[in-house]
Amino acid sequence: MNMSQPEFAAPHPDICTEEEISWLVHAFYAKARKDPKLGPIFEGHVSDWDAHFVQMINFWSMKLRGTSRFRGAPMPKHVALPGLTAELFGRWLHLFRETTGEMENPVLKFNADTLALHIGDRLWLRYQMERYPDRELVGLIE
Ligand code: HEM
Repeated sequence: MNMSQPEFAAPHPDICTEEEISWLVHAFYAKARKDPKLGPIFEGHVSDWDAHFVQMINFWSMKLRGTSRFRGAPMPKHVALPGLTAELFGRWLHLFRETTGEMENPVLKFNADTLALHIGDRLWLRYQMERYPDRELVGLIE
């Protein structure tokens, strides 16, 4: 693996460790819960934070390392959240990239940031289709 010029890679245990994923999830939520716009959404919908952290660690471990512990349904869970906007997704992605930038693993950063943008884009497109079927779709990716 070329460490100086990361390329998008299929999920693989060499991309990062479970410890790095746990750090990423906890550090991201430390920021997101303090964010004036995102914080109240998380506090209003997550009652068991330990279970949510496990869920998010399993999700990123699946996406980055190729493990199969994740059991969930991100699409309906996000469609169920009221009031999501492109701006909120932008804030989420900004905090996520800031967090991956604090880790000394450029391969993790490149892969996690790329995945987050594309998954976020799909979540947001489906959100608009379900909630605003008459509006023109707005993507997150230029
Ligand atoms: C505006 C941006 C976002 C907000 C406000 C948001 C909020 C939330 C909330 C409140 C939950 C908990 C839902 C529940 O347990 O009922 C959740 C779950 C989750 N989110 Fe997000 N999210 C956002 C963007 C993203 C993005 C971009 C990703 C992926 C890259 C993501 C991945 C997930 C996953 C994997 C879960 C767990 C789903 C499950 O338990 O089945 N979220 N999100």
